[in-house]
Amino acid sequence: MPPASSSPVLHRGRDDGASARIADLADAPRVIWRDAFRAVRAETERRAAPLSGEDQTVQSMADTSPTKWHRAHTTWFFEQFLLVPHLAGYRAFDERFAYLFNSYYVAAGPRHARPRRGLLTRPSCGEVGAYRAHVDAAVERLIAGVGQAQLAEIVRVLEIGLHHEQQHQELLLTDILHAFAQNPVAPAYDADWSAPPARAPAPAFAELPAGIQEIGFAGGGYCFDNEQPAHQVLLQDARIARGLLSNAQWLEFMADGGYTTPSLWLSDGWAAVETEGWNAPGYWRQCDGVWMSLTLGGLRPVDPDAPVMHVSYYEADAFARWAGKHLPTEMEWEVAARSGLIDDAFGVAWQWTRSAYLPYPGYRAAEGALGEYNGKFMVNQMVLRGGSHATPAGHTRPSYRNFFYPPARWQFSGVRLSDYVG
Ligand SMILES: [Fe+2]
Repeated sequence: MPPASSSPVLHRGRDDGASARIADLADAPRVIWRDAFRAVRAETERRAAPLSGEDQTVQSMADTSPTKWHRAHTTWFFEQFLLVPHLAGYRAFDERFAYLFNSYYVAAGPRHARPRRGLLTRPSCGEVGAYRAHVDAAVERLIAGVGQAQLAEIVRVLEIGLHHEQQHQELLLTDILHAFAQNPVAPAYDADWSAPPARAPAPAFAELPAGIQEIGFAGGGYCFDNEQPAHQVLLQDARIARGLLSNAQWLEFMADGGYTTPSLWLSDGWAAVETEGWNAPGYWRQCDGVWMSLTLGGLRPVDPDAPVMHVSYYEADAFARWAGKHLPTEMEWEVAARSGLIDDAFGVAWQWTRSAYLPYPGYRAAEGALGEYNGKFMVNQMVLRGGSHATPAGHTRPSYRNFFYPPARWQFSGVRLSDYVG
């Protein structure tokens, strides 16, 4: 084959079926990445669409962020880490936005205080929409025009940005639900929202395979750095609940004095019960003697058969102690999920584990600002596994590690128990 044939670009436009196919193949990855980029960006906007400008501006506590901020911050991420270093001649939409919408990347410069994000009435939602369009167009220009030699690096950062934006898509929903929970009229995010279908809670426990097992991400596809390296762990003889803990079981715990018995609680957990006045899961309230829960669909009666959600690590731990059980370790959870031993591992509620969020053996955070993504949070938090009904499709996997502080309960966080043999 003559040398010219090795360049599909030279054959573009010629009536040559073979070379046209080569050209298609050469361009295919770019089209796939462009389409993936469009799809993820559109999903963020779809989730924000039911929310008014007022909804999108409010911040109900320091841990949550306004919808408008999520939309802008995910955009800044692509601008900061993809466009500024890689798109020649890129002009920022607004130089001030880097300060407003940097979250926690110290290496990327100073930033607006997190608890004060709700005070940003400007830029408006419309301006944030224009910011998104500006960055979207530039990213598509970069994908289409970058040299083949740079494509791999572009794709590496683009892929992180897409998974990052998917994480914020879930936060967008959990954060607005928390904001709506502060409103006495209990607004609905989507009146047609339906509770995630879960298998009927089964009391059955499955035997975990004891001995040396492997956890962590290995093989092809995407993972966050905190899922690596894959490594061996030692599992004891244990059983894990096939199903998620139900509201009916939680109501039994409440009726038996679960929230008024200090001996069931970790010291920090009991302090949270006293300080916060917890007597039920987050977003539960009693109306005329009936327990109701604020959901994305508004205030609804608590369904006894549905999995309990919006409980903190402290509450999950107290329940397990009351039940004479434990929470699984993240190692047990991952082995169980890989082995097909558990129902509703994904798509209903995240599941607290009793594993502290720590680096795996041999973990090294990446160099530079993106190395701040996960590694610097590996202290004082607990790992949750699985995924919730708010997690974007395709975002989870058995090795995925979510993490939150023990008192957190504004996420869709539920419980799966484990038990030890002998
Ligand atoms: Fe972020």
